[in-house]
Order: sequence, then structure tokens, then C-alpha cells
Amino acid sequence: MDKIIIEGGTPLTGEVTLSGSKNAALPILSACVLTGGWHTLHNIPALRDIWTIKKILSNLGVVFEEDGQTLRVNSDNLKSHVAPYQLVRTMRASILVLGPLLSRLGKAKISLPGGCAIGARPIDFHLKGLSAMGVDISLEHGYVVARADKLRGAAIFFDIPSVTGTENLMMAAVKAEGKTTLNNAAKEPEVVDLANMLNHMGAQIEGAGTDTITITGVKELRPVTYSIIPDRIEAGTFLVAAAITKGNVRIKGCRVDDLEAIVEKLVDSGVKIEKQAQDLIAQGNDSIKSVDIKTMPFPGFPTDMQAQFMALMSIADGWSMIRETIFENRFMHVSELRRMGADIEINAGQALVRGKSNLSGAQVMATDLRASACLVLAGLAAKGRTEISRVYHLDRGYHDLDGKLSLLGPKIWREQY
Ligand code: EPZ
Repeated sequence: MDKIIIEGGTPLTGEVTLSGSKNAALPILSACVLTGGWHTLHNIPALRDIWTIKKILSNLGVVFEEDGQTLRVNSDNLKSHVAPYQLVRTMRASILVLGPLLSRLGKAKISLPGGCAIGARPIDFHLKGLSAMGVDISLEHGYVVARADKLRGAAIFFDIPSVTGTENLMMAAVKAEGKTTLNNAAKEPEVVDLANMLNHMGAQIEGAGTDTITITGVKELRPVTYSIIPDRIEAGTFLVAAAITKGNVRIKGCRVDDLEAIVEKLVDSGVKIEKQAQDLIAQGNDSIKSVDIKTMPFPGFPTDMQAQFMALMSIADGWSMIRETIFENRFMHVSELRRMGADIEINAGQALVRGKSNLSGAQVMATDLRASACLVLAGLAAKGRTEISRVYHLDRGYHDLDGKLSLLGPKIWREQY
């Protein structure tokens, strides 16, 4: 296994280019099952989660041709409708093949994804919506077994906005009979990217990015050439990296509008952020003001940036309250931050962070994807050496984060152990 080692204290300087968005690429790759022919997808990030979804799709009979960050995808010859436990258990987003398989084959057997480090992560919204569309669903031996002779449009209401729930039902609806409305739908940019790709395929989707999405079923879809949006969480992670090391970093190729909530909180904490076309230039400040955050569905402050922001607040000049409203257990990074000297108290879904003048390097362990990023950021700022084990969590959602950071100045490298 790999560990990442960081000698902290070097300000980041220079520029970095973002990779494609993991959370856009996953549903868009799954959408290739909806029709035969060759799709050409640009800006696909080289990540473990992308490897996993490709394994699951290959298992169904999908074939790929790789050319750098361009991936050609063909699902002419689907040979299975099963997504097996040994693959699905490593990535709960595997549930995204459910809607496309039902649309294309009328059947699907997907291992129940199970929970993960950050929470129970149920899929009841997905299943309830599909049932409303005429899908017969049973849970058998840890699998969702779904069948539908015909998918029909329905009016679906989400109790709370679900990103992959919205995406799964959108994909199930594109060739359904009649009109489907998704109410209280997720508005994340990744949902919009999927809708744009589906409309390029000939789907009729309106309202993506708002809380009411309408999908009018069509008879045929066609394969497309499409480019994935850049990863806004990677962008936010580099913005925090500049802030926590008091550095100066240009982040190239952002979609600035997707980052408003993150930029606002960083500016409130004293970071100077300048927008130049699709680039953001972040200049850290000597003193970091403490800022409260509450994670919310888009366009609110993203839960996927909560851990990274907590690292910054750990060395802020006061106390900050961090409320996590999306997942019930997304504070796994707190105990590791405490090992680095952070002063954090957790109480009922919120963390009180008492800012310290500095953190000290320590041996820490990654527990989930964004907790790993938090520990990297804390290590960049800490005095002395930090060793982060189990970085396979980090590699699920970041392409070569340590390599990209090392080009900006810090002493950061990998070792096997
Ligand atoms: C997506 O997960 C993202 N993953 C997550 O990113 C992200 O944290 C999350 O959305 C919230 O923004 C992908 O897009 C692949 P949800 P998802 O359904 O779709 C509850 C990362 O770090 N819920 O929007 O699984 C759920 O428990 C990952 O890149 C139900 O109760 O999240 C949560 O409390 C982590 N029943 C809330 O809704 C359901 O059927 C929002 O979850 C579905 C969800």
C-alpha cells in the first residue's frame, strides 16, 4: 500500500490544471449503456472510482478504447444485467447502472451498495422512483432485482435532494413512455452535465439545475461525443491548499459559477480570490479568520468540501462551528486532525473548531475520500513531518493530488509500506 509523506510549512506557488469531474464522469459513463454505438468522452479523470465503474460496465459487456483522457465506449453487445457484490461494495455509485440497464434491457440485478465510512447511504429514493415508473423491485440475498416490461413516466418527489437518485431516475426516464417530473431534484453541476450529455444523445430533458426536472420520453437515442466538466471539489481543495499554506496559486479551467459558496467562505476567512476568465487566483493571508459553515445541497456549501475546510479552520484565529447536514457520520477526519494538535469538539452533527496557531506533523490514517484530502491539507500546514496511510481512499477521487501539489513547492511524496 502507499503512504504520503509531507514536510509541512512550504507555501504553494504556481498554477494547476484541474482534472475532469469524478461525480460527472460516473453517471455519464453509466449513461453509455442507454444506447449502442461508439460514444467518445473527453476529460475523463484517471481515478480508482473510474476504474471501478469501467470494471462494472465491462462485466455487463461494455467495451472501451482509451486514448489519454479520452475514452471511447461501446455497449452494442451487453451480455449481462448483473453488477456483482465484489465490485459494487467498493463504490456505492455503482447503483448508477440501475436506471440505464432498466431502460435498455428491462432488467437489472445490482448488489445493494451498503453503507460506507460517512453514513448508511440508503437508496430508497432510487427504488421508490423506479417503482412509480412501473419497475417491479425485490430485494434478494443482498441484491436489488428489478424488472420492467415498459417504463412509464411518473411524477416523483424526493424527500431531500439526492444527486445519484436524480441521475438514476433521469436515465431511467429518457426512453420511458410519457413524461416524468423529478420534484425537489438535486441541482448539482454534475446533474446538469449528465442532462446535457443525455440531451446531446437525443433525450428531451428540461429544468436540469433547478429543483424540477422534466423528462419527455423519446423513442431513440444516439451515441455522442462529449467533454466532462472540470472537478469543482478538486478546485475547492486547491483553493484551501493555497489558503492553508499562505501561498499563491492559479487554478486553471474552473467553472467559477460552480464554486461560489466555497469562494465566499474562503474570502470571509481572509483569502484573496481573483477571477480571471475561467481561472481563479487564490492568495492566502497571514491570519486566517474563523468562519462558520453549514453543508447544504447545491448551491449551498458542499459536504464534499467540509473536511477540507475544517483543516483550514483548525489554524484559524478563533472558533468556528461546522455543521454537517447531509451525512450522519462525516467527521471521521476529526480524530486524525486531533492527533495533529487540532482542538475540535463534536456534538450532534456539528463540530466546534477552536483554531490553533499551528498543527504538528504526525502519523495519521485516511478513512474516506475527503478525509484523506483534509489530512493532506493539514500536513501541508503542519510543523514537521506528516505520514498519511491508506491513501487508496484519496486515489478514489483525486488524480495524482500529491504529484500536482509537489509541482507547487511543498515537500510531498509517496512511499510503499
Ligand atoms: C453524491 O452522493 C456524491 N457522489 C457524493 O460525493 C456527495 O457527497 C453527495 O452526492 C452529496 O452531494 C456521487 O455523485 C458519485 P445523495 P449520493 O443521494 O448521490 C440521503 C464524494 O466525496 N439519501 O445526494 O450518494 C443520503 O443518505 C462523494 O465525491 C436517502 O436517504 O448522495 C444523504 O443523507 C461522497 N435515500 C442525502 O440523501 C436515498 O435513496 C444526500 O445523498 C438517497 C439519498
